[in-house]
Amino acid sequence: MPVSVAIVGAGQRGLQLADQMAGSERLRLAAVCDVDAERAEAASRRLGVPAELDHRRLLERRDVDAILISTGARWHAPVALDALAAGRHVYCEKPLADTPATARRMADAAAAAGTVALVGYQQRFTPFSAALAAELPRIEPVQALLTAQRGVMNPQYFFPDAYGGIGDFVTHTIDMALWTMGGAPGGVTAHLRRGTITGDRTIEYLSLILDFDGGERSATLVTSMLGIRVTNLVEYIGGKGTLWTTDHRTVHVHTHPEIHEAGNKPPAGLESRTVDCPPGGDTTRASLEHFAAWAGGDKPAAAPHACTFAEGANALAVGVAAVLAAEQGRRVTLAELS
Ligand SMILES: NC(=O)c1ccc[n+]([C@@H]2O[C@H](COP(=O)([O-])OP(=O)(O)OC[C@H]3O[C@@H](n4cnc5c(N)ncnc54)[C@H](O)[C@@H]3O)[C@@H](O)[C@H]2O)c1
Repeated sequence: MPVSVAIVGAGQRGLQLADQMAGSERLRLAAVCDVDAERAEAASRRLGVPAELDHRRLLERRDVDAILISTGARWHAPVALDALAAGRHVYCEKPLADTPATARRMADAAAAAGTVALVGYQQRFTPFSAALAAELPRIEPVQALLTAQRGVMNPQYFFPDAYGGIGDFVTHTIDMALWTMGGAPGGVTAHLRRGTITGDRTIEYLSLILDFDGGERSATLVTSMLGIRVTNLVEYIGGKGTLWTTDHRTVHVHTHPEIHEAGNKPPAGLESRTVDCPPGGDTTRASLEHFAAWAGGDKPAAAPHACTFAEGANALAVGVAAVLAAEQGRRVTLAELS
């Protein structure tokens, strides 16, 4: 039996989610909802399902097993909390919420509900992410460098909050850093710039350093929405090797049992190879199929697995901490935001 879902938020992303469900054997679209009547009607006509203006009407329907939330971030929580209280599975677009406290409340509600509650960080489902999951444990990473330069974002993300502007995009990279480095950092230091082209308070550049294990390990993220045609770099350095790519397709892996010789020479036992990551299918589709499998009782045993609400709350907290750290010129701990 496919999982019957309703989409709440029929904007750009909501329609993409619907498109990615087309032809799925695990997912069936039952309804669509938007507070904007014109958008709701247009989506209803396009997708051939009934429209609602209030998400609570969807929760009265017995044929809706799960809710996909694709409203803007500040409206994720009311919908998710109602859906979880009504015993529904929830797939919520990133970032999970607008404040760390709200995101924690959502994670607690998900744990209490016991239904499947996942965040739409679909980058976990690229072939490149599969390679990271397989290779990183071998090199025992202590340091990561992830750049996420891109072009100018769509106007619906031009607002000053931490989760707007480049913050809406870098949340994917933050999730990757947390996922690959093994959980939430202790603290964050950062630098940002606002309004260079938008002329408002939108954050356009954000660079952050996450420290783990009292500073024993770290991840540096360098991001910009003015980085058009810049090559993005992913690099992990570990006690037993290094891993890097500039295209997310060819991953260079260098391993060595340990470094025990001083001097500028290759470590004993150095082995180098490349791992090919051919382009896979659409990652949003893979993420939705994964959600449906999990909701249908088929929880994945191994990585990659999707981002839980608890993990999503950590990613949001890191983004908020970064902006606070940049603006106050200090290291901000995650503990002080909880
Ligand atoms: N995972 C990804 O790669 C990815 C890509 C794009 C967008 N997103 C995320 O998806 C979300 C939506 O982005 P978008 O670009 O489609 O935004 P958008 O502004 O185009 O659309 C949001 C829609 O939600 C509706 N809405 C707001 N509150 C509502 C409520 N309570 N009930 C029903 N409808 C409501 C709005 O009327 C609007 O139509 C954001 O969280 C964004 O970060 C994720």
